[in-house]
Amino acid sequence: MESQLTELQTNASAAINAAPSTDALKEVEVDFLGRKGQLTGILRGLKDLAPEEKGKAGKLANEVKEALLAAIEAKEKELKEARYAQLGETEWMDPTAPGTKTPRGTLHPITQSFRRAEKIFTSMGFTIADGPQVEDSWHNFDALNIPADHPARDTQDTLFVRDTEKVLRTHTSSIQIRFAEENEPPFRIIAPGKVARKDDFDASHSPVFHQLEGMMVDRDISLAHMKAVMEEVVQQIMERDDLKFRWRTSYFPFVEPGLEVDMSCTICDSAGCAACQQTGWVEIVGCGMIHPNVLKNCNIDPEKFSGFAFGFGWDRLVMMRHKVKDIRLLYENDTRFLKQF
Ligand code: DAH
Repeated sequence: MESQLTELQTNASAAINAAPSTDALKEVEVDFLGRKGQLTGILRGLKDLAPEEKGKAGKLANEVKEALLAAIEAKEKELKEARYAQLGETEWMDPTAPGTKTPRGTLHPITQSFRRAEKIFTSMGFTIADGPQVEDSWHNFDALNIPADHPARDTQDTLFVRDTEKVLRTHTSSIQIRFAEENEPPFRIIAPGKVARKDDFDASHSPVFHQLEGMMVDRDISLAHMKAVMEEVVQQIMERDDLKFRWRTSYFPFVEPGLEVDMSCTICDSAGCAACQQTGWVEIVGCGMIHPNVLKNCNIDPEKFSGFAFGFGWDRLVMMRHKVKDIRLLYENDTRFLKQF
């Protein structure tokens, strides 16, 4: 048996050396060392040997096997290296060539402007509040001093959620109610977010749009505080310091007195253009002193506390700042438009 084993080792070594590829090498391995291979075949004869012969032959068989496995491993490495060297000559790579860029999105201009406004307001001591987009009638209307049969409800073109008492919030004033119900004054908050109304989709209307509302409640808050905050904030948001403001009285059920603020048109610098309907002014925010009924609805004593509230139509402000003429551009998600911001 010893001679059989040495013969096998010689033959196998020659075959390993001659293998032209890793596939061929695998075949050689199976042929000599596999479960049904030549080594197994020889070892079948073990059972016929005398006990001490058996031991010797077994030991030799192991040595032969180890030696062949090592030779196979070495040959495999050699074959792979030769293959890589060959690839290096035919397949060429320039590691200094610029890679292909994966396109990256940007934050939507409305999101960017909300973030800027949040920075400006927080620097003035305001915190940021949030609330649900699907709202109940109490938070969207009743608590805001808009009773069920009041004509003010009609001005909001509400979208109702089918088979429920819920609405898509028509303004983010509902967030202010939720906050005021749960917190004791003094507080200052802003409420940025999406709102929805039954509206057309044209150059200046969208059924989904954005508002940034806010309020400040404390002892002895007056219109003077409101005027100072509004004018400062708008200058900062628009990144201007030369804007003019025009304050007009107006009506909103949740404030008394109610006001609307116009700013000088930033598109034509007050000369008159389509954006300001040739007037030189654009309306940007509704505001006023919070109605005592609203404070009472939030369990705040109007004898002790007063406050102002405001609501920006946000899309309009973003359009003014970036000179965007059509609101639909903000909602079509055309990257040619969006990547400019
Ligand atoms: N909620 C109003 C709207 O959607 C905007 C508004 C006006 C909010 C006056 C206020 C405010 O907080 O005081 O038209």
